[in-house]
Formats: sequence, C-alpha cells, structure tokens
Amino acid sequence: MEELLQKIESFKSEIKNAIATTSEEAEAFRIKYLGTKGLVKEVMGEMKNVATDKRREFGQVLNEFKLFAEEKFETLKAGSASAQTETGDGLDLSLPGDALPLGSRHPISLVRNQIVSIFQRLGFAVAEGPEIEDDWHNFTALNLPENHPARDMQDTFYISQNPDWLLRTHTSSVQVREMEKGKLPIRIICPGRVYRNETISARAHCFFHQVEGLYIAENVSFADLKQTLYFFVQEMFGKDFKLRFRPSYFPFTEPSAEMDISCLICGGSGCNVCKHTGWVEILGCGMVHPNLLENCGIDSNKYTGFAFGMGIERITMLKYQIKDLRLFSENDVRFLKQFTAAV
Ligand code: PHE
Repeated sequence: MEELLQKIESFKSEIKNAIATTSEEAEAFRIKYLGTKGLVKEVMGEMKNVATDKRREFGQVLNEFKLFAEEKFETLKAGSASAQTETGDGLDLSLPGDALPLGSRHPISLVRNQIVSIFQRLGFAVAEGPEIEDDWHNFTALNLPENHPARDMQDTFYISQNPDWLLRTHTSSVQVREMEKGKLPIRIICPGRVYRNETISARAHCFFHQVEGLYIAENVSFADLKQTLYFFVQEMFGKDFKLRFRPSYFPFTEPSAEMDISCLICGGSGCNVCKHTGWVEILGCGMVHPNLLENCGIDSNKYTGFAFGMGIERITMLKYQIKDLRLFSENDVRFLKQFTAAV
C-alpha cells in the first residue's frame, strides 16, 4: 500500500508538470493517463491487492488521482486550442481578405484638377479667396458700382445689407484681392465654388464651380489671350476642335468676348446639345478694364491684362456628355463611381 501511494504521488507530480502546445500532445496525455490502458486504470487495478480494511481509504486516493488527471487534461486541451489560434494553426492564410470599398474622385474635382494642371504648365499659380464676400470685391471694384444694371446678370444671395455681405457670384473677387496686393506681374487662376440665386434645372443650379484666370503684365495683348485659351482647349478636348470668339459684354473687361468650341457631340453639323448651331459656349473673357486696374492701385498706362472665367460643370458635361447638372450634387454613388479613370 505504501508503495502504491508513493507511485501515485510521483504520477501526480509528473501530471502537474505536463505541458501541451498542440491538440495532439493533449491527446497523448489523455491516452497515457486516462486511456483504457492508461496509468489511472493501471493503479485502479491494484485495488484487489490492497488489504480490505484499507480499501476505503485507498479508493478515495484513487478518486482524487483520477479527478486530478482529468482536470489537467481539460486545462491542456483548452490551452493547446488557444495556442493554436495564436500561432495561426488551423487558419487558411491563403483566403482572400475582405475587400475595402474604394471611393472615387468626383467628376468636378477630376476636371478642376485637369484645368488647374493645364494652366500651371503655362506658369499660372492657384489663388483662393473667401466664399462669403463683401460688396467691394465681388462687385464695386470690378467696375460694377451700386445700381449698375449689370448686377442683375448674376442673381445674388445677400447675407446682410449695409454693410453688404454676400455669397460670391464669381471668383473674380479673388482676382481683385490679388491685384490689391500690388505684386506684379500677376498670373493666376482661381478655382472655387460660387453661388447664384437661380431656379434649379438641368442647366442651372444655385451653386456651381468656376475657374477664372488673370494675367497682368506689360504689353499683354488680346493675341496672348487667344493663344492661351487655344492651348487650354487643345489640351482639354484634343486637337480636332475649332474655336471662335464672339463679341460680348462684361463690365470688368473691354473688349469682351465669349468663346465657343465646335460641338463635341455632333462635330459641328448641328444637334440638340448645340441647339443646331454647331457651337457650344464654354467661357467668357476679355482685356481687363482700365478702371479695375486703377481701382486696385495699378497703373493702367503701364500695365494691361486679360481675364477669363469658365464653369467647371459646363466643361465636365461636355467632356463626359452628361446631360443634367443636378447629377453632380445628388450624391448617387452609381453615377459618381463611373469617373474613376484619370481624365
Ligand atoms: N466673372 C464672369 C462670370 O462669372 C466670367 C468672366 C471672367 C468673364 C473674366 C470675363 C472675364 O460670368
């Protein structure tokens, strides 16, 4: 009996120190101690050799031994399972991961970036200004004094009156801010959002995006303006386009013109988009009015300049043949995701 008890004690200390990092090792433990031919069974088989009066006491020791081995087995099993997950065993590392949905740039951003990069290649720098403007920068400095009828050309959202604060109707206000800095020559483009109180339709919205340009130096001529815009259109739409300038009126330029390109849809033969004229208007331009230069403290006898302004929506609609302006602000992903490719 003494000998048996000692044997059990030594098994117990062996069990205590047992480790298993895989489920196979835990199973080997089970077989060694708890299997049908295991050590627990073997010690139990010794019961018949124990004196009758000691059997009760020995039975208790055996039971404890069995429970001890079973508990250890449970611990080993659980430990080896979590160790396996940690080491990646049982995981299929070749499974493809969950795809992350990729966003795409808004078509207006794509086209704005392209316009900006074309003019940057010509040496124009980007200038930006506030969307909430005062009357001076949006109108008066631009040769549009109070009560000038041309103010009606751009229906304005006023935020307050006397003093007047408004949502800028064009980014020409940024040009005024640059001219006021007095650093010449000036060669800038002004991309940005502008606001006009117009009824929303397929062709108009209460806000849209513009890129306006300004070049002021000595001896700038209308020929420079034409060549600059000609380069822009070729880079933007390709070489096969015809250009024409139509005389027009803007208070801030003199002479003023509107520039048309031959219709991208019908190639000039006439369709709905060009209203059967073969031409589509894309921007307004002209030579900076001397009054503007003087308003901003620039000597109009020494300096001349040209300016132009275009709506990014219009260019984008022509480029991608989009028929309704409202699509740009409806946030319909089915529409927006079509413009992933670089323009
Ligand atoms: N500011 C004009 C507009 O928004 C565009 C323009 C800019 C025209 C510069 C001529 C010269 O309609």
